[in-house]
Amino acid sequence: MSLPHPPEDLLALSQSLCNKMVDVISTNGPMPFDRFMTMALYEPGLGYYVNGLHKFGQAGDFVTAPEQGPIFAATVARQIDEVASELKGDWTLLELGAGSGALARDLLGALEQPPKRYLILEPSAPLREVQAETLRDLPEHLRARIGWLNSPPDEPFDGVIIANEVIDALAVKRFEITEDGLAELGVTIAGDRFDWTCITPGDRLQQAWQSIVNTLPQPLPFGYRSEICVDLPGWLDTVTHTLRRGVALMIDYGYPRHEYYLPERSDGTLVCHYRHRAHFDPFVWPGLTDLSAFVDFTAVAEAAVDCGLEVSGFTNQSGFLLSLDAHEIVEKAEDDATRLRLAGEFKRLAMPGEMGERFKVIGLTRGFDWPLSGFELMGQLHRL
Ligand SMILES: C[S@@+](CC[C@H](N)C(=O)[O-])C[C@H]1O[C@@H](n2cnc3c(N)ncnc32)[C@H](O)[C@@H]1O
Repeated sequence: MSLPHPPEDLLALSQSLCNKMVDVISTNGPMPFDRFMTMALYEPGLGYYVNGLHKFGQAGDFVTAPEQGPIFAATVARQIDEVASELKGDWTLLELGAGSGALARDLLGALEQPPKRYLILEPSAPLREVQAETLRDLPEHLRARIGWLNSPPDEPFDGVIIANEVIDALAVKRFEITEDGLAELGVTIAGDRFDWTCITPGDRLQQAWQSIVNTLPQPLPFGYRSEICVDLPGWLDTVTHTLRRGVALMIDYGYPRHEYYLPERSDGTLVCHYRHRAHFDPFVWPGLTDLSAFVDFTAVAEAAVDCGLEVSGFTNQSGFLLSLDAHEIVEKAEDDATRLRLAGEFKRLAMPGEMGERFKVIGLTRGFDWPLSGFELMGQLHRL
């Protein structure tokens, strides 16, 4: 696919990041891919999420569900209101990775019972500034509830954790099935570009793969490449361990494990976004390109159980939105032009060929025994 060429100043930024990567590889040898992805996304001042360039919406590289319009947040708010009414009393909403702040703004505007505190755990300093700007026009009584965190709350809290398109941004390891067994994919230098190379798999990759391979319905062919997020269990524990009573909703593109590691998905799930074009080469313009991997939702469920959460619901985004009557928002539009706009948004969010099937929602609970309406119509826990 042909990509729009970046301007010279941005190419220079990407080149600075590449130079750092080359230094690391020249010193230490081939770089495990998760290290490459971490540098590509988070290298201070240069990585994609921390270099201060436009990411979201039409002027950026991709459009997330809350960026599409009001329907996503208004519908998620219905689910959160339901949880809040069972929690009773003061409760906290913790958003992980808030991007442009659109979900925070629209949730706070839509919730019937706003939380006492709306906390945003956002590692990117430039994105915190974007979020503050997005949230600036909220009424003072709502804005006063917002706070930013570097790490999850220390004190136990009752409430809701929400993460939309955050797990896909966690660095993944890549592997290849070879005749000699499992190999880890690393990044090396070939002439004036990066290239893949096989390296000895580290212990964490070996262990993670062992626990996966025995559960797959069929062996994978030689040459098969894919990803594993070995950081996922630790990350999930970190972000949920002070949730005392409540629900964590994680929404992302992904599959249950038996679909994730389908033999025909032989080059994995890595996906890169640059100016609304999706491509599959992570070595193109590091720092200017979003890099992500689909989420193995079975791994999320396993990690959740390991940190003492219950897996209370799993469905696709379409099922979640329809269960919460998202279509009513379209029907209740006050005029034809608004209805037309909302109908388009609803289609993009819910149609199977758009975001409706690719995106999944998992509901994790602790000390919370009430059913979650979002999983009522098309609950798919059995697929995990
Ligand atoms: C693809 S964006 C999604 C933004 C937003 N949630 C939305 O739906 O528009 C990923 C977000 O996750 C943040 N992020 C990346 N790694 C994170 C981590 N380990 N913990 C929390 N947030 C993270 C990024 O800085 C960014 O804000």
